[in-house]
Amino acid sequence: MGEHPKDVEITDEHPKTLLRDKHVEYIVGYSKKKDDFEYTMTEHIRMSGMYWGITAIDLLDCLGRMDRSEIITFIQQCQDKTSGGISPSKGHDPHLLSTLSAVQILVLLESVSSIDVNGIVRYIQGLQNSDGSFCGDQWGEVDTRFSFCAVACLKLLNGMDAINTSKSVEFVMRCYNIDGGFGTQPASESHAGQIYCCLGMLSILGELDRVDADQLGWWLCERQLPSGGLNGRPEKLPDVCYSWWVLSSLTLLDRLHWINADKMKTFILATQDPESGGFTDRPGDMVDLYHTLFGLAGLSLLGDASLKPINPVFCMPQYVMDKLNITVQTVP
Ligand code: FPP
Ligand code: ZN
Repeated sequence: MGEHPKDVEITDEHPKTLLRDKHVEYIVGYSKKKDDFEYTMTEHIRMSGMYWGITAIDLLDCLGRMDRSEIITFIQQCQDKTSGGISPSKGHDPHLLSTLSAVQILVLLESVSSIDVNGIVRYIQGLQNSDGSFCGDQWGEVDTRFSFCAVACLKLLNGMDAINTSKSVEFVMRCYNIDGGFGTQPASESHAGQIYCCLGMLSILGELDRVDADQLGWWLCERQLPSGGLNGRPEKLPDVCYSWWVLSSLTLLDRLHWINADKMKTFILATQDPESGGFTDRPGDMVDLYHTLFGLAGLSLLGDASLKPINPVFCMPQYVMDKLNITVQTVP
C-alpha cells in the first residue's frame, strides 16, 4: 500500500513506457478468441466491447487490423426492426448504451448508411420522459448516463430535432449537486463517471456555462492520489478508467493542468500487462478492453504524440469528429 489508505504502490517492476505492439496484439487477439470463457461471459456488453477495442486500435493507428465487414454485419444483425434500437448482441434487448456504441463504431468506419438511421432516431425519441430525462431501454431505468447517450448519438446522426433539448438540460441540471458535481439522478451522490456524462451532454448542447468550473475542477483534481492515479469518488481506490472520466471532464473545463500529469502518466503506464498486453484497472490486476481504451485515451488526452488525439466528449479519435465537422464546447 502507498501512503494513502486507499491507494496502490507503483514499483520499479511496473512498465514505464507504452507497450504499443503488445496492445495491438491483445485487441486483435481478443476478437478472434470467440470460444474463450471471457469472450462468452461478456456477450451482454459485446457492442460496447467492440467500440472499446476499435477505438483503442485506431488510437494506435492500426484500424486496418480489424475485420470491417464482420463488424458491420454484426451491427446490422443487432438492430431491432420494431423499435429501431440496437442491442449489445444478437438476441438481446436494445439499449441506449449499445445503440451509442454501435453508432460510434459505424461513424468511425464511415458506414452509418448501412443501418436504419431513422429507426435509431425514433428509438431515442421514444425514450425521453416528460421531465426531459431518458430511460436506458423499455424497462424504464433513468440515469444521466442515458441523457449523454441520447444527445451524443443524435449529434453523430444529425438528429437533435427529435428530442426536447431544453428539457434534457433542465433534467441534467436537477442532478447538479451542492459540491459542484453530478449524480445519476436528482439528489444522488456526485460521481466522476456521471460528471463526464453531464458535462459531455452540456458541451454538445452548448450549455457548459451552467456549471461552476472552479468548484467542479477542484472536486475533480482532488480525485488524484499520491500514486498519481485517480479515483471516481472520495475514499475509493484509484482506477485507470477514471483517467478518462476525470481527465476528459477537466479538459472540458480547461483545468487539465490542475492535476499532476507526470504522476498520472506513471500510474497509467503501470497498469499495462507486459505479457498479455492491455491495461488493467490497477497495477497487477487482470486486463480488459474497457481499461485498455481508457488507459490509451487518458494518455492521448495528456498529449502522448505516439497516439492519435482523442475528442474529450465523444471518446472517439479527433480526426473522425473533424471529418463530420462536429465541434464541442469547452469552458472559455
Ligand atoms: C463508471 O462506471 C462510469 C460511468 C458511470 C460513466 C459511464 C458512461 C457511459 C456509459 C457513457 C458512454 C461512454 C463513452 C466513453 C462514450 P463504474 O460502474 O465502473 O463505476 P464504479 O467505479 O463506481 O464502479
Ligand atoms: Zn475501472
